[in-house]
Amino acid sequence: MANKVILAYSGGLDTSVSIKWIKENYNMDVIAVLIDCGQPDDLNEAYERANQNGAQKAYIIDAKKEFADDYISPSIKANLKYEKNYVLATALARPLIAKKLVEVAQKEKAEAIAHGCTAKGNDQVRFDVAIRSLNPGLKIIAPLREWKLTREEEIEYAHKHGIKITVTKKSPYSIDENLWGRSIECGILEDVWQEPPEDVYGWTKITKKPSASEYIEIGFENGVPVSLNSKLEKLQNLVKILNTLAGPYGIGRSDMVENRLIGIKSREIYEAPAAVVIIEAHRQLESLVLDRELLHYKYLLEEKMAEMVYYGLWFTPLMDCLKGFIEKSQENVSGTVKVKLSYKNFAVCGRKSEYSLYDLNLATYDSGDIFDPKHSESFIKVWGYPYELMGKKGRIKG
Ligand code: ARG
Repeated sequence: MANKVILAYSGGLDTSVSIKWIKENYNMDVIAVLIDCGQPDDLNEAYERANQNGAQKAYIIDAKKEFADDYISPSIKANLKYEKNYVLATALARPLIAKKLVEVAQKEKAEAIAHGCTAKGNDQVRFDVAIRSLNPGLKIIAPLREWKLTREEEIEYAHKHGIKITVTKKSPYSIDENLWGRSIECGILEDVWQEPPEDVYGWTKITKKPSASEYIEIGFENGVPVSLNSKLEKLQNLVKILNTLAGPYGIGRSDMVENRLIGIKSREIYEAPAAVVIIEAHRQLESLVLDRELLHYKYLLEEKMAEMVYYGLWFTPLMDCLKGFIEKSQENVSGTVKVKLSYKNFAVCGRKSEYSLYDLNLATYDSGDIFDPKHSESFIKVWGYPYELMGKKGRIKG
């Protein structure tokens, strides 16, 4: 009996060709695993194709709930964005996919895991590092790092071997999608001076009129969105609904040049309507309920955590500690945030919480003010002593 390899199968050209290529080059039986993280592809069709293309067996694993609860949820609590913009949709799904592949490998007593990542991207790092830490005994095969085929040659290889593929009209873009967002690169986008053509957008095709707008309310409990317009929703559904509400306004697009882990810069377009609205709403709720010291310190850890997700360091002791801190910080992050959606834009325009630290009697400039101005004078006196002293000694250069 041949050894088995578990292939992270998407149904696309690369992984379809990989089935045959692995059998030819490694003489192993291929078990194709489709992991559903909320991408809109037709997974049943891809499943059929895996079998037709020579996989010994195929699995579809529904990981949507786990993705929402264990990956998206902590990243909302931590307001995660890499280099200030990217909500990490692709990056967050990688450790989960790796975990599922390792589980299937154990069940199937496979000796290797294969994935379709190229040698230039971040995903190979995320997969390899996660797989090696979860099960150091598994071999990793990355056909696209080994073969020298161009896309045309891949298609030719597929035709020659009777591999069923769905490449009808050649999309110039490389696209990765899941519940949390859509990432688009390649083609004309590689010219960083070129404005992205409208056809790159899938989730944020604008169908609303420029004058259109609407208000929505997101309810949070312990840092996690639990309701939309007062209706309780599971996180995975709430995200899905919000994507369809905000997407048609063109909300959630971002165009960035980012620093990849392997040292090169790349241009990527992102669409994440629900993610950007939720993170901003969450951030504003935190501004209402968290004290200044916790809020400011948390910013530092958020940056670190985003970087670690991007770098593929999910299953690590530091990540566990960061998650622990973030979790604790969310004890009072419950309340409702009102957001106005409008043409290519959105804004938080109201917030309320039973844990609000906003005290109108202290903040107001109108009647009812209880703030004693003498306290300010004394506070500032003490606060400024060191610098007054330095000023007296001529040590402060203006
Ligand atoms: N640059 C993003 C990341 O490293 C997305 C990568 C996948 N993008 C794609 N268009 N296939 O997480």
